[in-house]
This record gives sequence, structure tokens and C-alpha cells, in this order.
Amino acid sequence: MPTIQIKSSAGPYSFYCSRGAIAQAPRLIKRLGDATGVFVLSSPRVWRHWGGVLARTLPGARQPILFDDEESSKRLAAVEAIARNLILAGADRHAVLVAIGGGVVGDVAGFAASSYLRGVRLVHIPTTLVAQVDSAIGGKTGVNLPEGKNLVGSFYPPKLILADPDVLDTLPHRDFRSGLYEVVKYGVIADAELFRFLERRMNAVLRRDSAALGWIIPRCAAIKARVVTADEREGGLRQILNFGHTIGHALEAVTGYKRFLHGEAIGWGMIAATLMAVATDKLSDAEAIRIIRLVASIGPLPSLAKIQASELRPILAGDKKARAGRVRWVLPRRIGKTEWGIDVPWQIVSSAFAELPVIAADAGL
Ligand SMILES: NC(=O)c1ccc[n+]([C@@H]2O[C@H](COP(=O)([O-])OP(=O)(O)OC[C@H]3O[C@@H](n4cnc5c(N)ncnc54)[C@H](O)[C@@H]3O)[C@@H](O)[C@H]2O)c1
Ligand SMILES: [Zn+2]
Repeated sequence: MPTIQIKSSAGPYSFYCSRGAIAQAPRLIKRLGDATGVFVLSSPRVWRHWGGVLARTLPGARQPILFDDEESSKRLAAVEAIARNLILAGADRHAVLVAIGGGVVGDVAGFAASSYLRGVRLVHIPTTLVAQVDSAIGGKTGVNLPEGKNLVGSFYPPKLILADPDVLDTLPHRDFRSGLYEVVKYGVIADAELFRFLERRMNAVLRRDSAALGWIIPRCAAIKARVVTADEREGGLRQILNFGHTIGHALEAVTGYKRFLHGEAIGWGMIAATLMAVATDKLSDAEAIRIIRLVASIGPLPSLAKIQASELRPILAGDKKARAGRVRWVLPRRIGKTEWGIDVPWQIVSSAFAELPVIAADAGL
């Protein structure tokens, strides 16, 4: 099975990716060492699709602890409910928690694992494209506050990640496409060959061709693994993962997290950052056109109607990555190479944003 190693301050862990990986879960969890119990955390929706298969395979999966995985349920109350269920189920310090779901399940279950009895072992079985290529790797866990996203959390790496591309078959198409924007992001920031693969094979990818996905997922996971191994706490290099996220997060916030899925907002954010890179002479027109075309090839993005650049400005200044109100941008130099920590004059930011609808119309978005 293709395996990727990730190093963290809490020790190394492995990412396995292959079709049928879930069948290997009992054996791989056993290798983590003695456990007094294996406790499965998931959501009703994921369980409806995969509970039957998992209950036959995984210890602990016959009595899963299920919690809602709407973004609006990603709250401290969910962590408390999980902890109370774990107590009732008799989970002690030598338990293993297995989080099975998308990024919401992983973030909430991860935070629960980091704080329950001051920390119990965590295994991720990611079931969305975003979770397989991004959120399950790197140890960021957390929940939202009414004041903003992911404001309470911890760095808490799992002991093991098991990704099975076949699990993505049941994912709603919009969620699947949303994850593809993050895949494009990896190509732009760090992997020109991945980018070319996506240019050639986007149709197969959109059909969820398992050979194409079986190539892409470990490729992206390896990039994330390399970046978080080098910079676990986001002191430097890890910031490149935020390409497209500065404008993207602002678009999500200004529309109350309702209009865009996360990846869709990142799609717009990557186009805006690409325009800014051209305007600051960092990126050639030819490469910018390729980036915009690849983003557009995933399909239409929700419209930007009624959103003004001026509304985004205060949100950008309050971004977690901003320092003293100055936004630090991540901009591509060429496909496969990015810079971070860049200051861009507001005039250029707002012009790039104003240009988006025109660029979108040209690209057929
Ligand atoms: N920790 C990190 O580093 C990190 C990174 C990126 C995103 N995130 C977080 O991840 C969350 C988004 O995660 P996501 O994009 O995976 O979406 P999600 O967890 O919201 O899941 C999307 C939808 O798909 C359903 N679903 C999940 N797997 C399914 C399957 N196999 N078949 C059918 N339906 C399925 C879910 O029930 C949900 O309705 C956000 O809260 C974001 O903040 C965290
Ligand atoms: Zn993202």
C-alpha cells in the first residue's frame, strides 16, 4: 500500500492510501499497540453510506458515536457531547478514537481526542477529497465560535491515516468538485507535474476515475506531509498552503458561510492571487492563463454578485495570518513554486478583485 511518513513533535505517523484500505484498518490499528478499546466517531450521513461496510470490518464500529457534521455544528458543544459519550462507553486513557468522515468530523473528533482525558490516540479515516488530501494530515484540530471559524483548537497529530479513494464514490458532486480546488492548489504551489496531469486528465478526475484519483491523492498528501513535517506550527513554509485562502476565507465570511463551499471560495481566491501575482510582475501572463483555465475546468463557481472589495478589506485585516492588520499574501512565481509573506498594496488587491467577473466570463466560469 502506498505509504507516506509524516514527522511531528508528537512522533511520526503514516498515511496509507489505496483502494480497500479500510479493510486493513484492524491490522494497522493493532500495530499502534495495546488499546483498551477502539471507539468510532462519525456522522449520521457518512454512516448511512459506509456504516454497514465499517461495522463488518472495524472493532468499535458496531456502536459508533455519531454527531452532526454540518459546519454550524462544529462547536464546543459537540466536543462535550463526544466526551460524555466516551465516558459512558468506558473509554480510558488507553483507548483509540477513530474519526471517520470529512473535515468537520476530523476537526471535531481530533479536538475531542486531544482533550479527552488530556489526550487519547487518534486515527483518521477521511471520507471526503478535502479530508484525504488536506485536513486529516498535519494535526490541526478545532471548532468554530460564533465570532469566527476554527478559533478554538489544538495541534494534535493522529497516529495513523487511512485513505480509500473508493469511499469518495458516494460524495455529493458539489463537495467532490469543491475538494478539487485544493488539489489544483497543490499543483500551483508545489508540483508542476501534478498540475500538468490535471490539465490532461480533468475529465477523468471529474468522473472520479479510480486510477486518476489513486495517483492524485497520495501525490497531494505527500506535498502536505512534506510541508507540515518541515513547518508543523506554520512559522514559515506551511503558509504556502494558504494560497487562495486569504480572499477565499473573506468571501466565505462576508457571505455568512452560505454561498460558497470552502473549495469554491478558494477557487476564486486562487484566481485573485494569480491576478495579483501578474500585477506585481511575479508571474507571467502565460502561466496565469493556465492557472485560471485549470480552475475553470472544474466547473462554474457561485457568483460574486453584490460583494464589494471594500467589504472584504476589514475581514482581510483580521485574518489569522495578518500581522498588525497587514495581510501577508501567498503568490505564485510560476506553476509549482510560490512565495509567502508578501505585502501587496490595497490598490492591486481591489483591482484584482474587481477584475474577477470579467476574467470569469472569459474563462467560461
Ligand atoms: N484541519 C485542517 O487542517 C483542515 C484543512 C482543511 C479543511 N478543514 C476543515 O474541514 C471542514 C470541511 O471539510 P470537508 O470539505 O471534508 O467537508 P465536510 O466534512 O463538511 O463534509 C461535506 C459533506 O459530505 C458528507 N460526506 C462526507 N463523506 C462522505 C462520503 N464518503 N459520502 C457521502 N457523503 C459524505 C458530510 O456528511 C457532509 O455533508 C471545514 O470545517 C474546514 O475548516 C480543516
Ligand atoms: Zn482549504
